Amino acid sequence: MEKKIILSGIQATGTLTLGNYLGALNNWVEMQDKYDCYYMIADLHTLTIRNDPEILRKNTLNLIALYIAAGLDPEKNTIFIQSHIPAHTQLSWVLNCYTYMGELNRMTQYKDKCAKHADNINSGLFTYPVLMAADILIYNADLVPVGQDQKQHLEIARDIAERFNSIYGETFKMPEPYIGKVGAKIMGLQNPTSKMSKSAEDPMDKILLSDTKEDIIKKFKKAVTDSENKVRFDVENKPGVSNLMVIYSIIKNKTIEEVEKEFEGQGYGNFKTAVAEAVIERLEPLQKRYNELLENPKELMEICNKGTEKASKKANTLLKNVYKKVGLVINE
Ligand code: TRP
Repeated sequence: MEKKIILSGIQATGTLTLGNYLGALNNWVEMQDKYDCYYMIADLHTLTIRNDPEILRKNTLNLIALYIAAGLDPEKNTIFIQSHIPAHTQLSWVLNCYTYMGELNRMTQYKDKCAKHADNINSGLFTYPVLMAADILIYNADLVPVGQDQKQHLEIARDIAERFNSIYGETFKMPEPYIGKVGAKIMGLQNPTSKMSKSAEDPMDKILLSDTKEDIIKKFKKAVTDSENKVRFDVENKPGVSNLMVIYSIIKNKTIEEVEKEFEGQGYGNFKTAVAEAVIERLEPLQKRYNELLENPKELMEICNKGTEKASKKANTLLKNVYKKVGLVINE
């Protein structure tokens, strides 16, 4: 049986956090044997906010290095940069003509971003979900691993696909969201009721993948808990401790019950140290590999070029089919 196709991407902004790693990258690594995976750097999406060009370029390369350092094998996965495959933007133009203003207006992320970047409400921000739909539909992706915040974008991708298919016949496959096991959402250490975000202002709220051992220990020590002093999973009443348990359980590959048992009768001091140590143990080799990869940017580009070659073929075939269906003249 043919392997199912997975596509996902991360924007090239800032330094990624432990939340991005455990919620996304780590799950991707687990999927690489079972699925035919396409993982891109969504650099075009990043243009919807203002960036320093040199920093965007650097972040993009860093992110490729991180994909690989996190364990994505370039032989097994197709790794590429979104802007290297023009077919994404070409398809996105066509799909724009099959997407209604009203639909885009309802996107909660668009509304949030308008509030946040009131001085730069550009039309790219508005049509952002259409480009994302193109990213997904152009590979006939079956599954799209996304966080909760991107689910609405996936739904609109499905709506667009369905609309197009109903006019022109079966053209796009219906993508499904793939929400990983636990850990789809890692919360902030200071603010455990909201997601650990790379844009959080308080540095103590997030573990960066580039953090030193000392930073990590300090941040976990200061993580918000509660006064019960009992390692027990209860998101509602103990969001801080529950979040630490989730982090530990993913890294140690243990169930929440096993974690509860392991720390039975122990206070938060011991528990926090154990969580910090687990995170350090996981991040140290990742950081080492990441730094090695960045010493050789040429090799990174070669990996990307291989990915681009493979992805382009698939993307161009689908694009041509779409162009034909809507009535564009194909120059064969
Ligand atoms: N919008 C996604 C985010 O910010 C990134 C993204 C772009 C993406 N295209 C995608 C994710 C396609 C999944 C599939 O997180």
